[in-house]
Amino acid sequence: MEAKTTSPQQTIKLAQQLAKSLKAGDVVALFGDLGAGKTVFVSGLAKSLGVKNRVTSPTFVFLKIYKGRDFSINHIDLYRGEKITDFKDLGLDEIFTKNDITIIEWAQRLEDKLPKKRIDVVFKKIDEKTRRIKIISY
Ligand SMILES: Nc1ncnc2c1ncn2[C@@H]1O[C@H](COP(=O)(O)OP(=O)(O)OP(=O)(O)O)[C@@H](O)[C@H]1O
Ligand SMILES: [Mg+2]
Repeated sequence: MEAKTTSPQQTIKLAQQLAKSLKAGDVVALFGDLGAGKTVFVSGLAKSLGVKNRVTSPTFVFLKIYKGRDFSINHIDLYRGEKITDFKDLGLDEIFTKNDITIIEWAQRLEDKLPKKRIDVVFKKIDEKTRRIKIISY
């Protein structure tokens, strides 16, 4: 699936569409540059999943956990991690086997540690307000 959005609100709407199809244990991997709209997308997912708190990127911690309606939502941001060894303490393997929804910004940093079964969301900044967003399920 591929879409073009021209506002944060449209990106949030797209995320809310995806949220409807998410099941316990799903991992959503977000790819794209700084300011591409990953956190905006996470906020849309979280809202749809019943999270009341405001979603912000977990900058100084890698992981934030939100309580949704049916699931806990693990929001991971790996921007500040340099090497794969930095992520060892996160206990990711355990997180991936839980019946939560896990969303990962800067997912490329996990390299081959990313679970094979996942949903990729790839963001491309076209201009100030336009984003091309591709969603691929594996
Ligand atoms: N179509 C759009 N979709 C999403 N965000 C948009 C769009 N147009 C403009 N924006 C703006 O782009 C910015 C996206 O910021 P966001 O924090 O979501 O990026 P990010 O990919 O999470 O970056 P980072 O890697 O720094 O965490 C916001 O300021 C938002 O208002
Ligand atoms: Mg972000």
